[in-house]
Amino acid sequence: MNSDQENKAFHEKDLAWNKADALLALMSLSEKLGQLQQLDGGISKKALPQLIEEGKVGSVLNEANPMLIAQYQKIALEKSRLGIPLLIGRDVIHGFRTLFPIPLAQSASWNLDLVELGTRIAAKEATAVGINWTFAPMIDISRDPRWGRVAESPGEDPFLTTQMGLAMIKGFQGKQQYKDGNIAACAKHFAAYGLAEGGRDYNSANVGERQLREIYLRPFLAAAEEEVMSFMTSFNEINDIPASGNQFLLKEILRKEWNYQGMVVSDWESITEMIAHGYCKDKKEAAFKAMRAGVDMEMASTSYNEYLENLIKEKKIELSQIEVAVRRILYMKFKLGLFENPYPRTKNTDSILSNPHLEAAKQAAMESMVLLKNKNALLPISDEVKSLAIIGPLADAPHDQMGTWAFDGQKADSQTPLKAFQQMGSKDLEINYAPGLKISRTKDHDGFGAAIEAAEKSDLVLYFVGEESILSGEAHCRAHLNLPGAQEALLEELSKTGKRIVLIVMAGRPLILTDLLPQVDAVLYAWHGGTMAGPAIVDVLTGKENPSGKLPITFPRAVGQIPMYHAKKNTGRPATEGNWVPMDKIPVEAGQTSLGNTSHYLDEGFRPLFPFGYGMSYSSFAYNNLKVSEAKMTVASTISVEVEVSNTGKKDGKEVVQLYVQDLFGSVTRPVKELKGFQKIFLKAGEKQIVPFEISSKTLEFYDADLNLTTEPGAFKLWIGSDSNSSEFVSIELTE
Ligand code: NOJ
Repeated sequence: MNSDQENKAFHEKDLAWNKADALLALMSLSEKLGQLQQLDGGISKKALPQLIEEGKVGSVLNEANPMLIAQYQKIALEKSRLGIPLLIGRDVIHGFRTLFPIPLAQSASWNLDLVELGTRIAAKEATAVGINWTFAPMIDISRDPRWGRVAESPGEDPFLTTQMGLAMIKGFQGKQQYKDGNIAACAKHFAAYGLAEGGRDYNSANVGERQLREIYLRPFLAAAEEEVMSFMTSFNEINDIPASGNQFLLKEILRKEWNYQGMVVSDWESITEMIAHGYCKDKKEAAFKAMRAGVDMEMASTSYNEYLENLIKEKKIELSQIEVAVRRILYMKFKLGLFENPYPRTKNTDSILSNPHLEAAKQAAMESMVLLKNKNALLPISDEVKSLAIIGPLADAPHDQMGTWAFDGQKADSQTPLKAFQQMGSKDLEINYAPGLKISRTKDHDGFGAAIEAAEKSDLVLYFVGEESILSGEAHCRAHLNLPGAQEALLEELSKTGKRIVLIVMAGRPLILTDLLPQVDAVLYAWHGGTMAGPAIVDVLTGKENPSGKLPITFPRAVGQIPMYHAKKNTGRPATEGNWVPMDKIPVEAGQTSLGNTSHYLDEGFRPLFPFGYGMSYSSFAYNNLKVSEAKMTVASTISVEVEVSNTGKKDGKEVVQLYVQDLFGSVTRPVKELKGFQKIFLKAGEKQIVPFEISSKTLEFYDADLNLTTEPGAFKLWIGSDSNSSEFVSIELTE
């Protein structure tokens, strides 16, 4: 079938297209243009109802008041000429009122079912107020923790990001009918937004087409195949063309190659921002270039409504182009069932912050935490500890633990670590609380005295550090990734007390922990864990829950190493232990070539602080008997590789078993390791399990120099291990 036939076949299957066509036939040009307009709910509350009545608005964003939403839908349905309901869009990113951990943290859980459940819950709560469309999942690969939006992404890896994105889409969209608590999802930001130069938000992305497809587009292709109902363009320019006017991305790839049928919305004013980019001289040209590229709906700015009519008259834009866009928007509304049921699903109101929702949020927070250090098995906190010092600006920060994009969360709902410890209410455990610092950026040392006193009179110090939520997220990028304010200075003072210290880090990104590690006995990376972060942290610290999170992003030793990620290239001169000389060991006046010329930093070497996929447990897991069913395979065959994983510790626990692949030689160079599969398994203490993975040519495929997705005969290594650093591998050969 050619793509026209495919489109026809697709449309014939789906009555919503017929309904969209029938409605389209009745519409005036002004009504058509109206559907392309998304307006901010914050604009004049008087103007909006009028515009809706006139059929000049297709969608409203940033409105979560159910009364107003109901009023707007009623006007749209009953007063506008054609009675077309509104899409009510909102950033429901990691929960609605019940907040789950930030997406980067959820990715650290590697638990797809839990992630899907989280988005299912978010959708249900959002429908209670009338939201029928979320601007999530964000599936931008991010390899730069300076970038504030790393908090919102599933991390550095295309495979993990793809799986997370699919789980989220399934959870949000369910079977698509809004009346059943489902909302439309939106794959964003198309594309390469996470590649912002220097980690500065909105900045340019420069990337070769092969890498663009191989790394940055993969999660989007999967989202399109999963029939995500919408895509959002990104703010950045890619190879010198802004995404919102990028015909190559939107027309050639998304529409023609991928045959994507859903709707594309711009980002906030990203159409008119093409003027500042220097790509359009005025709003009219911006409207022209965005429509030409195939952006269906304009978010917040109004260039389409101001100029498309003239552009049609001038024959620069065909009416049929506009109709294609309107048709997609109408299709989405029919698909969601909004014509019959546009109103807030008030029967879902009772579920907001319900116990099952809070329990799921707590489970997600627990499984997201990553145990990075645990000297002498200090954690879980033993019964011998009779007094705890709870110190640090994040111990009782109900607002900040919600994380970025918490529009509908309320700090009064947040359960903080301090409160959770206090509520444990054990007579045998004394709690000595002294924050030491008011907020994460506090520079003065006024609270140090009380904090040190609390530490001195306690058996164990729990020091809650990190970043306020405002320090990550959109446009919140940082050049330094140390703990802000005087948090590091306070740690130095606390460590002088000689007390054992557990560092609990609550942050929206990987922070640089290199100098902090030696000063503490244990580190639990808790991210911004959402509404239930407190009880979740308490359960993990006390051993009620065994930590099982693994890093979804590499933790560098120093900012200067960024970007640092596991799927790197080997180079012609890879560094290994022993073939480079650390800076302080270089002999005086050493000869230029005497040190071994390899790819590393003199001062920080070549390794990260913690590799991708890393995370400890209170138990230990042994990997044995790694083997393949056959060492040779063909493009048409499937083999399996398996390993026996045993829980050799004393506690039941979950382990994320990870499969990595290396294609040793190719027509283009391949990364040293690529994640190609994972399974999160539960093993009781002493139990073991064989964990198999299927290897087919799909596992081994890549984009070649001609941009064909292909496999090449040759030699491959397969690793199954507990992180990206595992060393046990088996070799296989692929033949024609
Ligand atoms: C800008 C952000 O980039 C995007 O992700 C978000 O959905 C919109 N604003 C709407 O709030």
